[in-house]
Amino acid sequence: MSEKMWGGRFHEAAAASLEEYTQSESYDRRLYREDIAGSKAHATMLGACGVITPDEAAQLVRGLDQVLAEIEAGAFEWKRELEDVHMNIERRLTEIVGPVGGKLHTARSRNDQVALDFRLHVSARLDAWRGGLARLVGVLADRAEEHKDTLLPGCTHMQAAQPVSLAQHLLAYAQMFKRDHERLDDCLKRVRVSPLGAAALAGTTYPIDPAQVAAGVGFPATFANSMDAVSDRDFALEALFDASVVMMHLSRLCEEIILWANPNFGYVKLPDAYSTGSSIMPQKKNPDVCELMRGKTGRVYGALTTLLTIMKGLPMTYDRDMQEDKEPFFDADKTVSASVSIMADMLKVLEFLPGNMRRALDRGFLNATELADYLAAKGLPFREAHHATGEAVALAEQKGVRLEDLSLDELRGFSDLIEKDVYAVLEPEAAVRRRALAGGTGPGPVAAQLSALWAWLGTLA
Ligand code: ARG
Repeated sequence: MSEKMWGGRFHEAAAASLEEYTQSESYDRRLYREDIAGSKAHATMLGACGVITPDEAAQLVRGLDQVLAEIEAGAFEWKRELEDVHMNIERRLTEIVGPVGGKLHTARSRNDQVALDFRLHVSARLDAWRGGLARLVGVLADRAEEHKDTLLPGCTHMQAAQPVSLAQHLLAYAQMFKRDHERLDDCLKRVRVSPLGAAALAGTTYPIDPAQVAAGVGFPATFANSMDAVSDRDFALEALFDASVVMMHLSRLCEEIILWANPNFGYVKLPDAYSTGSSIMPQKKNPDVCELMRGKTGRVYGALTTLLTIMKGLPMTYDRDMQEDKEPFFDADKTVSASVSIMADMLKVLEFLPGNMRRALDRGFLNATELADYLAAKGLPFREAHHATGEAVALAEQKGVRLEDLSLDELRGFSDLIEKDVYAVLEPEAAVRRRALAGGTGPGPVAAQLSALWAWLGTLA
């Protein structure tokens, strides 16, 4: 630290800073489990194929188990100068088992090794995300069951448009998170491909069995092309894209909760545990958790952009640039895992205020479409019905009343097809009930959506 930058010392100072610059041990050490699992599968396979003796394979596996135990007990001494997780583990293994430790790396390169470790890690994390998403869908479905009869203004252009059930609104998000889950299922097909046996880039001369290693780590497939195997990071990119879509969906939901919690809406009461006060304004209750989640969405998009940019100029095959693939993934994983779980917990206790939602239906002529449909059903061409309704809305607006507050005579001034039965049609409950076609907000289609969702969740268990 106190070393001068000049003279003979310059070299050493530069070397020390480069060690820090080039190392990945500080963050890839978290792949130790994956690294050891991959190495055990590799050693076992080398023994089975006769590349090393079965006894040597057994020694390696035992040694690797000991390394694992040491790491988990916190007794492992990580060395920055050994660059990365792979070299740290191999060095300790060799200390434990002696020179036979040097045989572990037969028919393998760090290039296929790190690709396997990263794939194993991404695979495990995608499974965790799937679990979180399934729980979130379950919570949304639960809250939807509870609020089948709660109505609120559905919006387009952020303007009140037509009445919908709160269940329908919540189930829209359930559909998004279900698709996110399905996207992960699909991504996993490409993640769970073992690259081991590709070696540095060209494959290997040893008579090994890559399929045995794949089976050993629980992957159903092996690589098709050795050069692709060591240089492909599409699997991580896809995972980051999928994470970005999850965050985008969460962020939209956050935005709604933020709006709904605003006293001008008053549709929800934020649980104390998920909001904060202001240090200066005593009356405030701020939706910080939702705001943070909306903000953290940017980090995950950032991770995707980072890795896309890292990969875009890389010629075949492995290039050291690719060491930069892990930190963005770790960061995105931390964000998406926590966000999905916090959203599920928050939705469980979020207090909806159906009375305020119901009152909001009285503002904004949400039943105008009903009047137009009513006239159309009586034979008036829809365009004319739309026009007559527009005139009725203009009158009500001018008088400062709801459409249903206009007298029958006033309404008949716009069309003599209007009769007393129109008032029942203008009820928001009736408007919702009439949307009975599959996928609509009516009670029938909402119940059908719910049972389909429960059935889907049942298939995951
Ligand atoms: N730490 C490296 C990484 O994460 C491991 C692979 C190193 N391979 C190499 N040829 N230098 O990418």
